[in-house]
Amino acid sequence: MKQNKYDDKIFFEKYSKMDRSVKGLAGAGEWETLQRLLPDFKDKRVLDLGCGFGWHCQYAIENGAKSVTGVDISEKMLTVAKQKTENKICYIHSPIEDISFNKNSFDAVISSLAFHYLESFEKITEKVSDCLVQGGDFVFSVEHPVFTAYGNQDWYYDENGNILHFPVDNYFFEGQRTAGFLGEKVIKYHKTLTTYLNGLIQGGFEVTNVVEPQPSAHLLQAVEGMSDELRRPMMLIISAKKNRLTS
Ligand SMILES: C[S@@+](CC[C@H](N)C(=O)[O-])C[C@H]1O[C@@H](n2cnc3c(N)ncnc32)[C@H](O)[C@@H]1O
Repeated sequence: MKQNKYDDKIFFEKYSKMDRSVKGLAGAGEWETLQRLLPDFKDKRVLDLGCGFGWHCQYAIENGAKSVTGVDISEKMLTVAKQKTENKICYIHSPIEDISFNKNSFDAVISSLAFHYLESFEKITEKVSDCLVQGGDFVFSVEHPVFTAYGNQDWYYDENGNILHFPVDNYFFEGQRTAGFLGEKVIKYHKTLTTYLNGLIQGGFEVTNVVEPQPSAHLLQAVEGMSDELRRPMMLIISAKKNRLTS
């Protein structure tokens, strides 16, 4: 079943208070890294899967995209997106799993931190390949497989509350996990690194870059506890190009 956690009142209120929700891209620790991997949007038709508040849609429009379409399962997220961003962005209220665009509808498909909510990466690549032009760009971030493997997404602490280590277990058992996020229980789907990389290669994409983002020197200095983010990867960002036609 497709989870729509972002329409849950309490979760939505908590998510709306996060830095990345208040400050937009500037409040997203991985943005500088993701930005470097994004293609030139000039005159491109761009699709953003799991667009949330529409920050990346807005960025694409501001950087010359011909058209931008954002898809999200959450009505609450899209309502805010429509208020915050330019009205020439087309927002579609739909699960990513159900999208169905004509062939060659888009020159670039992007997605930020949404695919770990979806069970099958293979089906995503099929959908993306279906609507992307040959040579088109596919760039996305997800929670890192090391971060999603165990499930609860919390450190192990000693009796004084000091971090001991981050648990990684059941790595090769893909599938549903119940994670703690913002003090709420959220369903996510663990996938291995192989699933992401081979999923792209077997789906007709050429992988052009893989990055495990680390906090910038500025964040390491400015935010207390940020150096713990160097103890395990939290995100994975991949860029790819559609390099052959699929049936
Ligand atoms: C962590 S937020 C990221 C939002 C935005 N991409 C960003 O980076 O600011 C995840 C988003 O994915 C959306 N989402 C989760 N599962 C989805 C699904 N099955 N179909 C479409 N959107 C989904 C959520 O509603 C939420 O807006």
